[in-house]
Amino acid sequence: MRRRAFMKAGFAGAVGVGLAPLNSPADEISTLFSPRARRADGPIRLSSNENPLGLSAAARSAIIEALGDANRYPGTPRGPVIEALAAKHGVTPNHIVLGNGSSEVLQMATQCAGGREVMVIVADPTFEDVPGYARDIGLRVEKVPLRPDWSHDLDRMRELTRDAIGPVLVYICNPNNPTGTLTASRDLDAWIAEAPERVLFAVDEAYFEFVNDPSYWSAQKWIGTHRNVLVIRTFSKIYAMAGLRLGYAIAHPDAAARLSSYASGNNANYLALVAASASLTDQAFAQKSLETNRTAMRVAHRCLTELSLEYLPSHTNFLMHRIQGDLATYNRRMREKNIQVGRAFPPMLGHSRVSIGLPEEMEAWAEALRSFRQQGWV
Ligand SMILES: Cc1ncc(COP(=O)(O)O)c(C=O)c1O
Repeated sequence: MRRRAFMKAGFAGAVGVGLAPLNSPADEISTLFSPRARRADGPIRLSSNENPLGLSAAARSAIIEALGDANRYPGTPRGPVIEALAAKHGVTPNHIVLGNGSSEVLQMATQCAGGREVMVIVADPTFEDVPGYARDIGLRVEKVPLRPDWSHDLDRMRELTRDAIGPVLVYICNPNNPTGTLTASRDLDAWIAEAPERVLFAVDEAYFEFVNDPSYWSAQKWIGTHRNVLVIRTFSKIYAMAGLRLGYAIAHPDAAARLSSYASGNNANYLALVAASASLTDQAFAQKSLETNRTAMRVAHRCLTELSLEYLPSHTNFLMHRIQGDLATYNRRMREKNIQVGRAFPPMLGHSRVSIGLPEEMEAWAEALRSFRQQGWV
């Protein structure tokens, strides 16, 4: 039997044991992959900015096709992904560095910034990985509160770099997590243009694809000329691959070489790589992710407006909004409704971060919120 046919037969047999019979192996596989089927009695997950659609059909097929090779080290599918990413970004492959999720790339960026003397500058609040990794290896971390418009306070961050004598790592999360807000690319450009090379910029564009705003563009424009700019992307969000783990940096070849010397060996797994290659060819899925997010975001906006709960302008697949009362109590009450919302993001303890799920999941969340209002809890 050819490998593909064997795989399908094997899958069908395995599935047949635990689930009601279905029409064809393809149906069974698609049921296995369906977030809806798995969610039947589980919580609605609106906590980790995951893509609620599940993997794209192209990625699913690619994984099934490749399962029989998962006993092999991932050298074979690695090259094609790097080439596809290079083509996507209009660079040569030596500009691309893969990571086990963009989290690993952020860890590599923190480690490669220049040793124990590095000062790390981050916004507050922002995505916790870089400050977390920095603290773990004993680096000094300076947190700079976001400005009243929720953008990074680039002026203050810049002042700090001037005060530092040694190397500096500046982490710019744009759009920012947990606020979902933008920092104007023009302002960041102005800083990068005049920054000395000892200031390394790690620009995290995890939510790049969700942004539709004229003040925003990628920091990739710098990597041709600047060795001190790393642009970091992920397959977790728009391509729904959070559990498979694949992220990457785009950087000047010298910076890319320096960065990748901190990567673990074989750091991108076989199935993630084949799913990534397939996902890059499936633009319809990316488009569907955006459209689903837009529709579901509207459900959230409508409810929050109706309840007069302020929310921040989100350019992502999550939304930060006011609650009234204690956040831990709010989260517990949501859990009692079988809904998981975001963790606490100090100092924004009067806000909840809700990830945007499917429209019907956001309806369930809105219903819960309305019932909280009736109880006088929000
Ligand atoms: C801004 C930001 N960067 C990086 C990550 C990590 O993503 P990955 O799954 O690629 O490790 C996240 C995850 O939520 C994020 O919000």
